[in-house]
Amino acid sequence: DNCRCAQCVNQDTLQRNFDTFAIPKDISPTEISAKAEGVDILWSDSHRSHYTWSWLRSNVQSTQPKELLNQESLWGAAISSAPPEVDFENVMSSGSSTGMAELTSKIRQYGFCFVVNSPKTPEDTEKLLESIGPIRNTHYGGFYDFIPDLALADTAYTNLALPAHTDTTYFTEPAGLQAFHLLSHTPPTNKPASEVLGGQSLLVDGFYAAETLRRESPEDFEILRSVKLPWHASGNQGVAIAPDMAYPVIEVSGDKLHRIRWNNDDRGVVPLDVDVDAWYEAARKWNAILKRKDHEYWFQLEPGRVLIFDNWRVLHGRSAFEGLRRICGAYISRDDFVSRWKLTNFPREDVIASNMQLR
Ligand SMILES: [Fe+2]
Ligand SMILES: [Zn+2]
Repeated sequence: DNCRCAQCVNQDTLQRNFDTFAIPKDISPTEISAKAEGVDILWSDSHRSHYTWSWLRSNVQSTQPKELLNQESLWGAAISSAPPEVDFENVMSSGSSTGMAELTSKIRQYGFCFVVNSPKTPEDTEKLLESIGPIRNTHYGGFYDFIPDLALADTAYTNLALPAHTDTTYFTEPAGLQAFHLLSHTPPTNKPASEVLGGQSLLVDGFYAAETLRRESPEDFEILRSVKLPWHASGNQGVAIAPDMAYPVIEVSGDKLHRIRWNNDDRGVVPLDVDVDAWYEAARKWNAILKRKDHEYWFQLEPGRVLIFDNWRVLHGRSAFEGLRRICGAYISRDDFVSRWKLTNFPREDVIASNMQLR
């Protein structure tokens, strides 16, 4: 089933090229010979296989899985003194992938990164985002370029303050990356531009907040991890979206934090068959941690400074603002982003080996 020979594996797509179930059930090796480059096996149906040592090393279960190193740095308000940044030119340079490698690995490490010195146009922003991965279409559209308009029936399209949240909590697979590029902010006609317009942006590292909760109140962490809730998007006529099943606020994989899902406005009813009081108590604690000054990173979006963040980890929000803001941006699916990160930071062979070892 795992023969690597050119007849058995399509060498372009690395897909299996034969019918597994046509192999005789009682097949066995007739001859096994170790060579310098790997192992040759002659099978009882007279098929001959060759497995390289490196393939065997990375695919045989008893070996340690090769982990693609992802440095994860949790952060709080202090990140404002040196937020992760890369230069637009480096990311888009056609000759080398080092800029893209740096951008994607910073997003993996911090959950966000600014792309600085970006051309202040929607077209260049869209090109930048598409270079990471295909833009994800939703009922709001694909790449967007908007000024506030309540026709879209979501508070994101108003000028109200928005507390820290993740987007698309109502999808089975919430948006992976999200990007914002503020193209312009014009003051209201009755006010001089020199006056503060508001509209500060907020990021909160959801993993840092979750670790704070786990440390200070493990029972509350456990409640937000285990109680599964309904989520929904119901504001648009003709759209009634909900995930395939209920999901908790905090998802983990083993001990490791996996995903944060938090938009209190899109949350459904806390199921009545759980300890509802305990859930609200835990959520109250979580909400208070998200609003701690030392967990909040406030900054001003600026034309030329594209913000890209991991919507599975980092929550975003903003303060109320006056005047008209023109913002463009998009969502990119998680798998596409992670693929770009892997392939720009690690040899392709290691990436494929590590993909085969996901458990
Ligand atoms: Fe949002
Ligand atoms: Zn073969």
